[in-house]
Amino acid sequence: MSLFSAPFDPAADTALVTGAGNGIGRAIAQALVGEGVRTVFADVSAERVSAAIAASARPELAVPWVGDLAKLEACDALLAASRAALGGVTHFVHSASPPRREADHALAVDRRTWQEMHAVNLDAGFHLARELAKGLIAAKRPGSFLFLTSLHAGTPRNLPHYSTAKAGMAMLVKELAKSFGRHNIRVNALVPGAIAAGGFVADASLARHIPLGRLGEANDLAPMALSVLSNKISGYVTGAAFVVDGGLSLTNWFEAPVLDE
Ligand SMILES: NC(=O)c1ccc[n+]([C@@H]2O[C@H](COP(=O)([O-])OP(=O)(O)OC[C@H]3O[C@@H](n4cnc5c(N)ncnc54)[C@H](O)[C@@H]3O)[C@@H](O)[C@H]2O)c1
Repeated sequence: MSLFSAPFDPAADTALVTGAGNGIGRAIAQALVGEGVRTVFADVSAERVSAAIAASARPELAVPWVGDLAKLEACDALLAASRAALGGVTHFVHSASPPRREADHALAVDRRTWQEMHAVNLDAGFHLARELAKGLIAAKRPGSFLFLTSLHAGTPRNLPHYSTAKAGMAMLVKELAKSFGRHNIRVNALVPGAIAAGGFVADASLARHIPLGRLGEANDLAPMALSVLSNKISGYVTGAAFVVDGGLSLTNWFEAPVLDE
């Protein structure tokens, strides 16, 4: 059998994807059910969850869940619902994040917006991952977790609530990878560039800063996400950050040389 023909074991692997109603989370959740993996599609928007499941290749493998992950009790409700529907989650993707608004700069962002950004990205990510890990450790099962961070974990975005939340997530990935490694639970980060998905309002002129010459799409992220999630393909990979940005992060004050003249 070829290495990539069966990246998951549908008899044993189950997934939970937050932010599955839109953009990158939606593309990853849809790709997982496409591989035969029973997957909880979790999001704050009921309409988005329904539409994402209806448009997936195998809707019968999708489990809808709707709630606000800024609230700890909603995170616990999601864990209970996932356990009830799947019997346990082996693959966790944390993609949910509140919208970014350019107006929320350092002097403008209010306390509620600051807290919600941290609550969904960092607090929910930590709580969900830790609780899922407890179940896997008790059951002696391997696991694979993937956090959607950002290039702005390391470079400013003019949105301090967002960049600090993502910087926290980047370290959380390393902390959890180190702590859970001996239990065969891998934890990695997926680092998108400028992806015209929904959370990022794309300015087409940005494409000139991207070596591959175009903005990304949510579906550009899904193949790498599944490769990193797969224990078969990435079984010896943990604590790593995979940048999927068309080369955007290579951009600096030097233009690329013109080679065709
Ligand atoms: N799009 C990009 O260019 C880009 C770049 C870097 C990082 N990222 C990260 O990738 C992830 C996905 O980005 P996207 O552009 O696909 O985002 P998106 O806005 O399209 O999707 C995010 C989803 O999260 C859901 N959500 C928001 N708040 C929630 C809450 N409180 N509880 C539950 N669900 C909630 C939204 O309803 C939405 O469906 C995010 O973590 C984002 O920070 C995106």
